[in-house]
Amino acid sequence: MNLIRKPGWAIPEREATPEDVFFGRRRFLLGAAGALAGGLTGVWGAGAAPSKEAEDKTLGLYPAKRNPAFTLDRPLTEEKVAAAFNNFYEFGGSKTISWLAQRLKTRPWQVKVGGLVRKPKTYGIDGLIRSMPLEERLSRFRCVEAWAMAVPWTGFPFAALIKAVEPKDEARYVKLTTFFDRTVALGQIWPTYPWPYVEALTIQEAMNELALLATGIYGKPLPKQHGAPLRLITPWKYGFKSIKSIVSIEFTRERPVSFWEKAQGTEYGFWANVNPAFDHPRWSQRTERMLGTNEQRPTLLFNGYGKWVASMYPDTKDRKFFM
Ligand code: MTE
Repeated sequence: MNLIRKPGWAIPEREATPEDVFFGRRRFLLGAAGALAGGLTGVWGAGAAPSKEAEDKTLGLYPAKRNPAFTLDRPLTEEKVAAAFNNFYEFGGSKTISWLAQRLKTRPWQVKVGGLVRKPKTYGIDGLIRSMPLEERLSRFRCVEAWAMAVPWTGFPFAALIKAVEPKDEARYVKLTTFFDRTVALGQIWPTYPWPYVEALTIQEAMNELALLATGIYGKPLPKQHGAPLRLITPWKYGFKSIKSIVSIEFTRERPVSFWEKAQGTEYGFWANVNPAFDHPRWSQRTERMLGTNEQRPTLLFNGYGKWVASMYPDTKDRKFFM
């Protein structure tokens, strides 16, 4: 993935790459792929007539009823701020990829749900969303890079889908995969990364009330840069777990290896639960910067969601659960 040759903790503080330099360098490398994407748009545009995107048949479902169980301790991030600062490496390494993400066609869209389940099914996205109990949740979101936002997601509990497909007893994990299409997402040509993007949870985590499959934000369907038409939200974990634009959900016996774990396992692990007490090898996790206002706030254990999730992790002193 990145250019670190040895783990962050093995190098003296003065040699550690500051976060902005590190992400700037990645931004340069993946920005090159992004620029290529932008440059080629015209070329493709000239040859193939763009096919019309099918209509989103879920528009009437928004805004969904807000679930009062989820409240915030801070103001909402402005919609336009959240929509213009994204991580979506499929479209490049910079935060300003929203314009490139518009290349993604999100209708028609299918989500294959299978593996160790009794009732595997490939869902059309509109049918799936219409069959699930949509709700709005105010939610904190903490990126491992130490920025944060507070947004209203719309979606349905992951548990509702899991119950519908009936996992077999031997299923222990659920693996989620993003689309793979290099004609749309030129970041996926970049060989440093193990495409497609993959994330995974234990079934217990996926069944937790907090795990949401999001279809919307700010009372509207998800914009493409936020991971339309379907993404995961696990607000007690660092943001990289919240995989975007999902095409496959597979129940497995073995623990899947996630995208960032494969790319840089010494820094981005499977559990990735938020904990200010454990620094990232190259920067502190004690505080977070709110998008838009730049307010620095203390980071909370489990991002403030311990009431829902702490019982799943027996030892909060064990670093393995927090990277
Ligand atoms: N999902 C995919 N497929 N590709 C990505 O690059 N980035 C992750 C996560 N999901 C990413 C992804 C990271 S690092 C973060 S912080 C969040 O998406 C950012 O979500 P946002 O852009 O909606 O704020």
